[in-house]
Amino acid sequence: MTYEQLYEARPLPPLELHLDSLADFFRYSLALSAWKQAGENRWALRINPSSGNLHPTEAYVVLPPLPGASASPALYHYVSESHVLEQRASFTDDTWQRLTTSLPAGSFLLGLSSVVWREAWKYGERSFRYCQHDIGHAIAALRFAAVLSGWTLRLVPSWSTEEIAQLLGLNRTGEFCVEEQEEAELLAVVSPNDTSHENTPRILPPDEALMQQIRDASWRGRPNQLSASHVDWPVIDEVAVATRMPRTAAPTESMPSFGARSPATDDHSSIDALQIISQRRSCLALDGVSEIPREQFLRVIMRTMPGPDAPWDAVHWPPKIHLLLFVHRVNGLQPGVYMLMRDRAKTDVLKAACDGALIWQAPPEVPTELPLYMLRAADCRDTARTLSCHQDIAADGFFSLGMIAEFAGSIRQYGPSFYRNLFWEAGIIGQVLYLEAETAGARSTGIGCFFDDPVHDVLGLKDDQFQSLYHFTMGMPVEDNRLQSWPPYGETELRSSGGILDDKSDKSNSLTRGSF
Ligand SMILES: Cc1cc2nc3c(=O)[nH]c(=O)nc-3n(C[C@H](O)[C@H](O)[C@H](O)COP(=O)(O)O)c2cc1C
Repeated sequence: MTYEQLYEARPLPPLELHLDSLADFFRYSLALSAWKQAGENRWALRINPSSGNLHPTEAYVVLPPLPGASASPALYHYVSESHVLEQRASFTDDTWQRLTTSLPAGSFLLGLSSVVWREAWKYGERSFRYCQHDIGHAIAALRFAAVLSGWTLRLVPSWSTEEIAQLLGLNRTGEFCVEEQEEAELLAVVSPNDTSHENTPRILPPDEALMQQIRDASWRGRPNQLSASHVDWPVIDEVAVATRMPRTAAPTESMPSFGARSPATDDHSSIDALQIISQRRSCLALDGVSEIPREQFLRVIMRTMPGPDAPWDAVHWPPKIHLLLFVHRVNGLQPGVYMLMRDRAKTDVLKAACDGALIWQAPPEVPTELPLYMLRAADCRDTARTLSCHQDIAADGFFSLGMIAEFAGSIRQYGPSFYRNLFWEAGIIGQVLYLEAETAGARSTGIGCFFDDPVHDVLGLKDDQFQSLYHFTMGMPVEDNRLQSWPPYGETELRSSGGILDDKSDKSNSLTRGSF
């Protein structure tokens, strides 16, 4: 499959749901992608990126009975380290029926959670938002992997956080170390492609009888404890509680479609999707000299525009994030501060909230269908570096950017749980940029460390109507030749009979499986 097809409307006929297709679904989304070594230190990297490579995101699937897996419907936890599923609960056929009654055959449920402590020990209060960025990256990674299998993936807005926690077994508090509690994030439906966009599978809110059946299911296993001691960050617990999703409170508007996708160039139409997904990497340093041609730059940012297809069709809200671009080295475009309005209709609102001295000029060399405005011509390398916690990568690339969210209004409109959704949208944009960098023969990095208020000062924003949520950079990498690389699962992966672990606590109990 070509890279271009990742963004097309349902390009492939669906694969049947079995353990091999599931293995590939995880292999191209949340699996390990490489081992790295420097001196004595060895660490794993994954298909999806994560702040500090700490990977707080955990994934679960609820599956029907499948050959090689449980004979009953069951909940499994995905273990990226060994690329296996471990069984956490068995459900009755009736529970499965109730869960999936409105879904087409071949569907399954996917849940994501965050182990916030994995980020908090290092990043403290800011870790909650980093976990949310990571969820956004994971949504996009999973959505693209679903495209590869001919599947759709769509978040479920009708289940509350508490109900999702119950389905995933995360509220079985006695089984978790209190300080390492997993926070339920989202539930998604993965279904075989249908021919029509309108016919999107939806899952109904659970009733009390279903919740009781889930409580009464056969549960097993306990998560490993990460740390012997912990630091308390009360504000993380407060924000987690405050942003939990009540039932059916989520918005259900769909993304407005943007028709002006750039056509595939010959170069891009021959690029292999699996190659790009598998090679994605963060840059550690950028060379500070290379340029990107204007056409290529426009193509990259155009890709972040919302549309009816992957990855944007995974979510159920209209775009709320616009890109504040610091253009450093784009051949054919003047260096300066620009704004890409991902929802053109919001231009006047953002303009009104900004400093009146910004010029908001559409560059003549940019197609008019792309809502890109120059705000100020400038060499903004120092500004970009300073804003991104003095990180050189924000200044040494082709461009860097801040993701400016319609903040207070969205949260007023959709409720406090939308705080998480905003970061998820930012993460989805980030994942697209990561892949675009690879296709451009360049490299990018998500930047979670930035100074919020000074970013707002660049625009003259005075309140929380708009807030910067995530930064990003792209350029030509300087490789660190001291690093050695190893394949993700070594030789064992190729030969492996793999495993479904049938108990979360007993990893010796590895069973069956083709290519997991
Ligand atoms: C939300 C998020 C924030 C990040 N923030 C930074 C950052 O501020 N500075 C940086 O150098 N890298 C940052 N990174 C990159 C991570 O360090 C990188 O993803 C991780 O080390 C794994 O490497 P990989 O992306 O090559 O798999 C961030 C990544 C994510 C997803």
